[in-house]
Amino acid sequence: MSDPDPGDDRADDDADPGGADPADSTVEAVFDAVAATAPEIRAALPGRRVESGTDNPSGESVLAGDLYADELLGEAITAIDGVGSFVSEEREAAVDAGGAVGSDGDGGPYAVAIDPLDGSSNLRSNNAMGTVVGVYDAPLPATGRDLVAAGYVLYGPITTMVVADESGVREEVVEADPGGGGDDGPAVSRSVVEADLTLPDHPLVYGFGGRVPDWPDDFTAYAREIEDELKLRYGGAMVGDVNQVLTYGGIFAYPALVDAPEGKLRLSFEANPIAYVVERAGGAATDGEIDILDVEPEGVHDRVPLYVGNEELIERLQAALD
Ligand code: AHG
Ligand code: MN
Ligand code: MN
Ligand code: MN
Repeated sequence: MSDPDPGDDRADDDADPGGADPADSTVEAVFDAVAATAPEIRAALPGRRVESGTDNPSGESVLAGDLYADELLGEAITAIDGVGSFVSEEREAAVDAGGAVGSDGDGGPYAVAIDPLDGSSNLRSNNAMGTVVGVYDAPLPATGRDLVAAGYVLYGPITTMVVADESGVREEVVEADPGGGGDDGPAVSRSVVEADLTLPDHPLVYGFGGRVPDWPDDFTAYAREIEDELKLRYGGAMVGDVNQVLTYGGIFAYPALVDAPEGKLRLSFEANPIAYVVERAGGAATDGEIDILDVEPEGVHDRVPLYVGNEELIERLQAALD
């Protein structure tokens, strides 16, 4: 790199290691916001198990918990400098956050897509749920190649947050810090419990969504092989099931179904962020034909079949579906 010209103040920026890359500071602020809302969302769930009486753009009935998480996260994320627009499972269109992404409004260059409460049908049965987030440096709909970071919160026995960016994948424990909040809401403590999360080499678990009679024959044949090799771990919330795969190695799939060739999961705020995390952790993710991150969506609620996990298992899956 050429020596900075003393007269060129940009040179100072180049020379100044502290000048955070806008992506880094926006990403940091997004995951700060997601962590900060996690204890509030978790604390609100017991009283929000009921149907809200409305459907979302995917045609699913929305629970009060879905709406609460969406409102809390929407408010926190659209307030972040650098975030130009916000997409949510529970909202029809992208919400401008001070100017559409890429416009000359004062919004920022980043679009954030969230699944505010993933696996919300587990609320009544008191099983794992999560929040999924993707930070894109392009207007949505966009491909996963435009992700600069992605991750998820898992509301399990403890609350954890997995964060993936170009440097890798880390897992944090997120706890409410009652004494630390002051007047702007409860603070949280975030402690990294795994600084370099990578998929174990030897797969142990699998989880496949949908009803077996609805699986196409080629996927059924593949599933029969996998069932003889791995242990079933399917909990009905993608975040919980993917976290099993990241922890123990294996494969999660919500496959193309005979009567729903596009599967069930949405690309922008479920498949892309999860694919980004698992690929950063050394795994692979496909829609059955191509890498999930290369799928070109038309709309922000587009569905896509998702197969994600150890590379060898995904390669076998793609061969089985050819
Ligand atoms: P969401 O609650 O955000 O709508 O997502 C539910 C998804 C996903 O979490 C899970 O993998 C899948 O639905 C489970 O579907 P089934 O109930 O058909 O198993
Ligand atoms: Mn839903
Ligand atoms: Mn979901
Ligand atoms: Mn959801």
